[in-house]
Amino acid sequence: MTKKLIVGNWKMNSGFAESENWFNDFVENYEKNKSKLANKEIVICPPVILIDNIVANLMEYSLEKTQQDLKENNIDIKNIGAEKLSDLIMDHRPFMVGAQNCHFEEKGAFTGDISASMVHEVGCEYVILGHSERRNYHHESNKIVAKKLIQAHNHQLIPILCVGEDQKTREDKNHLEFIKKQIVESVPQDYKFNRLVIAYEPIWSIGTGLTPDISDISEMADFIRKICEEELSKVAKEFVILYGGSVSAKNAKFILDASNINGVLVGGASLKADDFFVISSS
Ligand code: PGA
Repeated sequence: MTKKLIVGNWKMNSGFAESENWFNDFVENYEKNKSKLANKEIVICPPVILIDNIVANLMEYSLEKTQQDLKENNIDIKNIGAEKLSDLIMDHRPFMVGAQNCHFEEKGAFTGDISASMVHEVGCEYVILGHSERRNYHHESNKIVAKKLIQAHNHQLIPILCVGEDQKTREDKNHLEFIKKQIVESVPQDYKFNRLVIAYEPIWSIGTGLTPDISDISEMADFIRKICEEELSKVAKEFVILYGGSVSAKNAKFILDASNINGVLVGGASLKADDFFVISSS
């Protein structure tokens, strides 16, 4: 993978008006500095209620840009096949959309939950699974997370699997063993994913402003890749390893410059479009 992956996780923040403003601000930055995102893939994971509207805005924007491009190149839109036109529209999107979670069952009596098929149908390409906030507040075990990955697989969603140790585990120097267990148990072994994204997010770093030393992040990225190669080589064609936890406009470049880190998962700093653009273009 050559493009770095930048994922914004809005968590339970923002509303319709704020998300419209965010969209306009991000697009404004994008229009001015499009080339800065040339080697990046950007994914936004808003609360699920906002996704339909954001996808509609994205489609309207990218259709307009596609039409402009075709006109400038004297190509009649009617002469382009539907498939090619759809590819062009997708290529003109400044970012893609993902969800923050999905249920582990296909459908059924699960009040308040959202299935992977719904997430796919609303226009998401990615889904965050096993975030530590889901693991802690909703008691999601590795076994449940593995079932969610199967749902993602079955509905053409790219899973962003989150793993991360708490402070005590790190202090006791059990973090490598802990992460290995989380990964091996959270990834279903008999499924083939095209792309599996693993986000290393130490719990003590999320929302605290604390980040591990870059050498520790790098050590973990190498360790995760080794586990993927040794234990999961048949499970995915491509492994993408992200770092998450207090990523900001100030530290993003430093993290993204590390060649073994394929991108970042950004929480709080993704809520401001200007900051998120700085991170994305770092
Ligand atoms: P943070 O959150 O960037 O606010 O620390 C990261 C995350 O939880 O994904």
